[in-house]
Amino acid sequence: MNTAFDQISHLIRPHFLKMQGYVSAGMLAGKDETRIFLNANENPFSLPGLEGCNRYPEPQPANLLKAMAGLYDVRQDQITITRGADEAIKLVTQIAVEPFTEDILITPPTFGIYKVDADAMPARKVVEVPLLKKQGTFFLNSQGIKNALDAPSNRIKLIYLTSPNNPTGNNLSYDDLTDVIQYAAGKAFVIMDETYAEFTDQPSFTQTITEHPHLIILRTLSKSYSMAGMRIGCVISGVPELTTIIRTKVMETYPIPRGSSEAALKIFEPGVLDIARQNIKKLITERERMVKALNIQNGIRHIYPSDANFLLVEMERAHDFYNFALSRNVIMRDISNAKGTENCIRLTLGTPSENDLVLALLKEFYG
Ligand SMILES: Cc1ncc(COP(=O)(O)O)c(C=O)c1O
Repeated sequence: MNTAFDQISHLIRPHFLKMQGYVSAGMLAGKDETRIFLNANENPFSLPGLEGCNRYPEPQPANLLKAMAGLYDVRQDQITITRGADEAIKLVTQIAVEPFTEDILITPPTFGIYKVDADAMPARKVVEVPLLKKQGTFFLNSQGIKNALDAPSNRIKLIYLTSPNNPTGNNLSYDDLTDVIQYAAGKAFVIMDETYAEFTDQPSFTQTITEHPHLIILRTLSKSYSMAGMRIGCVISGVPELTTIIRTKVMETYPIPRGSSEAALKIFEPGVLDIARQNIKKLITERERMVKALNIQNGIRHIYPSDANFLLVEMERAHDFYNFALSRNVIMRDISNAKGTENCIRLTLGTPSENDLVLALLKEFYG
């Protein structure tokens, strides 16, 4: 029988299939208080106020793994906790892209790290199939992606799809995304970056991972769960063998610092998840309020529809306004010179009073 792993094993760099993974002391014997651990060359003395720091953390903290698998409604052998979605991007690039030989595909304007990690491998090239700008928003060029995938001059191993997308803010159509995922089966991994998924009603693709073995989902606690400082994200795959390869052959041995996993677990304590969800609602309300206010503000040319916690705003003299706000200690993201986002500023939604300040600065600058 052709298992899910059989369907994707040729997409993994061959040496990862052959090599032995590292089995750390922590993997062999989980830590508990009742036993004496002399197996990891740790210092037995802890320092005052730093109790427990003398021990290596669990490679994949069991409690957090359980909690995150529950949060995303997947099995524990389908998820690998990473240091943010950023590390997840690096890991999937390492798994799939043979340096100097194979390519990745991105759909600019999109998140810059995909290309940086590919260039760092280095991938042979980064194939760009830009999003189509029409009807005041951005669409996936699914036919363009399919053509690129089949072009004899390309050897694409990874396709990055980001929805909601950064920096455009919008969801890509579920049907277009599905179309690309289905077409890429057996040809390339599709990495669905759902970093901003909690800010939209569009369903997550996590529910389809068993249907599509070549689909890998990236999630993070950074944005919607206010945890950017703790660096906790994950890779989700419907193929447990791939999870094992990531955990034992690609990741560092003890990647998740104890402090980060303990902090992340607090999200799941009674009431905290509710507060996080209320905060998400607050940000969505702020998004709607800001769109209304910006719509009647002089100098604003277009507000791109957003399903994320930021707005892409096209404005007159965008770079000058960015500098003006900077001089008042309000820092935005100036992408007014980047291809596809000409004259645009990316504005993260802040607290209501921070957003009011942005509106006041706009009024002062443009009248
Ligand atoms: C699309 C996208 N993916 C991944 C990341 C990285 O997120 P994390 O904080 O989980 O590393 C970001 C951060 O801005 C992002 O916008």
